[in-house]
Amino acid sequence: MATTTYLLVVWALVAADLLGTGLARPSAPVPVAAVGKAQREFDYFALALQWPGTICSSTRHCCAINGCCRSEPLQTFTIHGLWPDYDDGTWPSCCRHTNFDMDKISTLKPKMDQYWPSLYCSTSSTCFSGKGPFWAHEWEKHGTCSSPAVDDELQYFSTALDLYFKYNVTEMLATGNIFTSNGKEYALSDVIDTIKHAFGGSPQIICKKGSVEELRLCFTKDLKPRDCLTTSSMYKNLSKAKHCPRSISLPAYDPNAFLNSTLEILPEASNSGMYFYTS
Ligand SMILES: *[C@@H]1O[C@H](CO)[C@@H](O)[C@H](O)[C@H]1NC(C)=O
Ligand SMILES: *[C@@H]1O[C@H](CO)[C@@H](O)[C@H](O)[C@H]1NC(C)=O
Ligand SMILES: *[C@@H]1O[C@H](CO)[C@@H](O)[C@H](O)[C@H]1NC(C)=O
Repeated sequence: MATTTYLLVVWALVAADLLGTGLARPSAPVPVAAVGKAQREFDYFALALQWPGTICSSTRHCCAINGCCRSEPLQTFTIHGLWPDYDDGTWPSCCRHTNFDMDKISTLKPKMDQYWPSLYCSTSSTCFSGKGPFWAHEWEKHGTCSSPAVDDELQYFSTALDLYFKYNVTEMLATGNIFTSNGKEYALSDVIDTIKHAFGGSPQIICKKGSVEELRLCFTKDLKPRDCLTTSSMYKNLSKAKHCPRSISLPAYDPNAFLNSTLEILPEASNSGMYFYTS
């Protein structure tokens, strides 16, 4: 494959309206006003994984929900979401009026806390209540569009976790002698080829200033590995900053760098436990 083709193996991520950062999925093509309107069945799933080393290095304030603020740095890919997508590069969103309910996934909570943390302090947009936790966003916007492959909230989150454990990206990369967190630069083409070989499908990789921000694995509706979309039309809309260069790294980060700062409770914070730095 020509090197230029690898440079196209990234996705359109436009301004993030959701988490107030450059990381959230672009706003869905279907406006929130269309909630409940029938949307056609999706074509495939993308399991979006985020690399905390890249995201956490821009952490400027801490709060209890932000995984970047744990005293031990996150050293593995964490889950962003399991997204139903269409083969034309668009995706359905907010398909059913089913509010996120934490009680339905209480059995999964320890694993979710560990492997599916928010990497921000801000709340996320939801379909029905406006704003909510990261998991509410993923379920309401994406999860509700996963039928008939996935029926309900518990199955949505457990399916994502199962795929995450079954296809361990850290281990897959190690088979190609690509080791995470050592700050070394790797050829983008080697990273892609290693995943293709170990996983059985081409991934999508999103970068931020040359560091891997997200890696996505794609699955058929019956959860078999498949290629993510790699046609050039998919990447035209990608902001230049999200393109991966030929050499990429998976950096580590040091939580002490921001944990040592003085934390102060923000009086007007919309959700409890919100902290901002004063220094
Ligand atoms: C993935 O594999 C790495 C390396 O063996 C291990 O440290 C990590 O815990 C695994 N992650 C999951 C989610 O199983
Ligand atoms: C790219 O942007 C154009 C114009 O803004 C839009 O019509 C098109 O649907 C977008 N393509 C994708 C794949 O998002
Ligand atoms: C933060 O504190 C830890 C432990 O006290 C220390 O090892 C580390 O060097 C400090 N980091 C910064 C950036 O001051």
